[in-house]
Amino acid sequence: MQYWGGPRTYSDNRGHPRLRMRHAPFAVNRAAHDAWLRHMRDAVDELELAPELERQLWHYLTYAAASMINTEG
Ligand code: HEM
Repeated sequence: MQYWGGPRTYSDNRGHPRLRMRHAPFAVNRAAHDAWLRHMRDAVDELELAPELERQLWHYLTYAAASMINTEG
């Protein structure tokens, strides 16, 4: 929401997102990445967005998810 220019509720409550750092205590491997994206795919499908908006959102989510992987195990 905030990334896309919406309300800054997250930062107001939690500070700078620092997403990689916040995920560091959790093992995010390829399997976790795939499971996360699978559920997110279902959620995005439910939105029935216009194709261009869907493409932009999915591009962001796949890019962000890949950057969250922090272990091979
Ligand atoms: C690669 C797949 C991902 C996995 C397996 C994953 C897993 C997790 C886990 C285990 C937590 C902690 C939950 C807790 O505190 O109990 C978390 C928190 C969070 N994740 Fe992810 N995550 C993934 C990708 C992402 C992505 C791509 C985003 C944003 C685009 C994101 C945004 C967040 C946020 C905002 C939190 C809460 C941080 C906080 O304020 O404590 N995550 N995630």
